[in-house]
Amino acid sequence: MVRNRLIIEGGKKLKGEIEIGSAKNAVLPILAASLLTDKRVILRNISLVNDVLTMLEILKAIGSQIEVINNNIIIDNSNVNSFFPPDEIVKKIRASYYLIAPLLLRFKRVKIAYPGGCEIGERPIDLHIKGLMNLGAKVIPNSKYLEGKIDNFVGKEIYLYGFKGPSVGATCQILLAASKAKGKTTIFGASCEPEVIDLINFLKKIGVEIYGEGTPVIEIYGKEDLVGCEYEPISDRIEAGTFLCAGLITDGEITIKNVIPQHLIIVLQKLKEAGADLEIKEKEIKIKRGEKKLKPLNIITSFYPGFPTDLQAQFTTLACLADGESIIYENIFERRFAHCQELKKMGADIEVIDNKAIIKGKKKLIGSEVTATDLRASASLVLAGLVAEGKTIINNSYHLDRGYYQLDKKLATLGAQISRT
Ligand code: UD1
Repeated sequence: MVRNRLIIEGGKKLKGEIEIGSAKNAVLPILAASLLTDKRVILRNISLVNDVLTMLEILKAIGSQIEVINNNIIIDNSNVNSFFPPDEIVKKIRASYYLIAPLLLRFKRVKIAYPGGCEIGERPIDLHIKGLMNLGAKVIPNSKYLEGKIDNFVGKEIYLYGFKGPSVGATCQILLAASKAKGKTTIFGASCEPEVIDLINFLKKIGVEIYGEGTPVIEIYGKEDLVGCEYEPISDRIEAGTFLCAGLITDGEITIKNVIPQHLIIVLQKLKEAGADLEIKEKEIKIKRGEKKLKPLNIITSFYPGFPTDLQAQFTTLACLADGESIIYENIFERRFAHCQELKKMGADIEVIDNKAIIKGKKKLIGSEVTATDLRASASLVLAGLVAEGKTIINNSYHLDRGYYQLDKKLATLGAQISRT
């Protein structure tokens, strides 16, 4: 069943300025972290994407009092009353697993359905469980729920590096648990992603003592009483990267504002390799084409500061229009190539072998009817639609709203011909 559609008339060169919103992947663990205190937490300038709204819904369902005023979220958790958030909301997002540690800390118990999220490959949570058990929790996963119990979290040395490298989610989970654990926790093999650093900055603001953020070894000194705070999360590097691709692919000239260029080093390098002309300032980036033809790219997705898997699909679209053959290896989520099948319907020449996509660039893509399968795959189809000849219809475009705030409206302000049904 098609839930909603985006219709794009391709061929418009995007021009103008656009403001990047807050990073969903930073806001989600920070919302869970708000449960560590009963004092008021105010989060400023939040992009109200659907995943964030879902997390707010979950918090409300367990007793949080939440007000949203002009993109500011005001949270009072003093009446939180349940360790068992409702299944139907929990299953909507992957990040609901961030509630495990905070609920264990509040109630010494947790019962939670397995999280949902994008269908992009195996997404185990063994590292989360291993880490929590190391700190003293009893975690009993059964076929429907993950149930946990704890007397007291006690600080330990934890090796969190997984089969695919560090895990963003598991690092955040253990940071949350260790924030109120007795004594010192050291995480070896921690994720260095900017969103993890942002969670740490928030935790420090509510009173936790943490050292080593942005490195693979993080030390956390748990504190019993944590305070409230006001906090503005970082801007979204994935939204930024998506708009930069849109500017380059349409041969336009756009400036993205409220961006942290340092978080995009490898992405900017790949855009330059593809032929972009970039003007980088402290908080903004202007992009246009430096050369007439796009150049092919070789990309290997990896953990930070490597190329983010969350921009792989968007760069696949870019590669579809390059003058030559590109190769993209997906090293984080092995099945994250669903967009390739759809891009092929638009005339792309892509061969996927295991975790590798070989893309032979074409002069043009042809507007077609395609179906979005997950959040970033949807973004790649939008990019393809912007540049394709004729009309592109993207079915199930609701996936986009999980992580992009009004992407269609923002693109329209840059001159795209895009509408929603
Ligand atoms: C987060 C992001 C997601 C991004 C991903 C990688 C959120 C809400 N989502 O997802 O957008 O694509 O980071 O940057 O922030 N793994 C295990 N065991 C575990 C946990 C993970 O084997 O317990 C594996 C995963 O299958 C994957 C790799 O580790 O292959 C990295 O996953 P992880 O960093 O945990 O991704 P998420 O936190 O789920």
